Amino acid sequence: MAGPSAPRPPVQPDHKTALDLLPVLPMTAEVRSGRLWIGGVDMVGLAREAGTALYVMDEEHIRSQLRDYVKWTRYHWPEVDVVYAGKAFLSLAMVNIVAEEDCCLLCASGGELAYAIRGGLPMERVQVHGNNKTPAELAECLDAGVGRVVVDNFVELERLSAMAVERGVTQKVLIRVTPGVAADTHDFIMTGAEDSKFGFGLNQGLAMEAVKRAVELPGIDFDGLHMHIGSQIFALHSFAKAIEVMVGFMRDVTNETGEHVRMLDVGGGLGVAYGVPDEPSTIKDFGKVVVDGIKEECERHGLPVPRMAVEPGRSIVANAGVTLYTVGAIKEIPGVRTYVAVDGGMSDNIRTSLYDAHYEALIANKADQPREMVATVAGKHCESGDIVVRDAPLQCPEIDDVVVVCSTGAYCQSMASNYNKQVRPGVVFVCDGDWRWVVRRETYDDLLRPDCG
Ligand code: LLP
Repeated sequence: MAGPSAPRPPVQPDHKTALDLLPVLPMTAEVRSGRLWIGGVDMVGLAREAGTALYVMDEEHIRSQLRDYVKWTRYHWPEVDVVYAGKAFLSLAMVNIVAEEDCCLLCASGGELAYAIRGGLPMERVQVHGNNKTPAELAECLDAGVGRVVVDNFVELERLSAMAVERGVTQKVLIRVTPGVAADTHDFIMTGAEDSKFGFGLNQGLAMEAVKRAVELPGIDFDGLHMHIGSQIFALHSFAKAIEVMVGFMRDVTNETGEHVRMLDVGGGLGVAYGVPDEPSTIKDFGKVVVDGIKEECERHGLPVPRMAVEPGRSIVANAGVTLYTVGAIKEIPGVRTYVAVDGGMSDNIRTSLYDAHYEALIANKADQPREMVATVAGKHCESGDIVVRDAPLQCPEIDDVVVVCSTGAYCQSMASNYNKQVRPGVVFVCDGDWRWVVRRETYDDLLRPDCG
């Protein structure tokens, strides 16, 4: 999903302190006695006590984002499901929060579904998607009784029907449609070719054929349509354009099959600020464009307004999280750059090397000091591409300083690996002056457990 990566001009020290970085920090972030605190917890003390590398997440921030989605979508229409996309970050504690905040969960695999089941989330609030669900995963969906399966291809549709009939159950499905609108960070592109591994395209009549098949197949209850146009989207007009296309298709469905589309799911994708200058759209504006947009389009076509779903992932958790590292080595190459080596890297944050993603960084124990130099925060892996933040304005670093990389709550822990047999960091939730492990740090025993000798 990385946006187009234009060559960046040389980075200069920007003299910002932690207070200037609040837009990319969790909502409870503050500076006390020169240190960064989140959720009423001192990040320096936490790093020393819990160890690093460490993912820290602000529980209040996560809940507040979910509440904002619920509020600003249902403000325009009462029947909207907020379906948190678990791929962004998932743990049992997160499932709990989703349950408590009256939200639903989007699972992208049998493994994510296992979290929903173990977390005790009511199964009607679970939705499962994916372009190649295995027969085993489809069986897991049916046996668990998940609310909706987002169907991605004909083989899956036929298979799900046969398996549902075998079990004597009926499964609600959404048909995933490729609206032909691809969003990049700041604009949208109409893709005539609909070249995507996901969903059914509109142009060749595949989406209509899928809907008709879903309507006639036994064991399948055609509930509605699904789309997802991309991730880290800043420009809301790409949603508006896709909604126009989808509601037009809803009208076609009604005309051709006599069926009403009961649910329209617009997917996720709202962007977040990774850098201080980033200005993503707000959840409030997203709610207006999406929910009002669907209502208006339905009115225009004389269609009943369907139940709606939104599937935010990144915008719920990205800015809620930071990663703490300890500085272990500093290498200054005169006239070239300074490397600040930390006790983590591409195993806990692959996004920099994979997408050329950029993050803001600061030093927790120097939070009130200006970022007076530029350094590259490097990981400890055996690859020169193992960079956490390239050319980061930073306070002057020293050995044992606690480096904070901001906005790492989404797609970092969930994409972490054990490269170099590195144990994956634990996750700590902070709230009201307390912290607790929600995922403990792995041990060497965890690493070795699957080996058969
Ligand atoms: N719904 C569907 C069907 C999706 O495929 C996704 C994300 C979402 C919802 C949530 O989108 P969000 O609100 O988080 O943008 N690994 C990449 C992001 C991949 C997103 C894949 N799909 C990254 O680190 O940026």
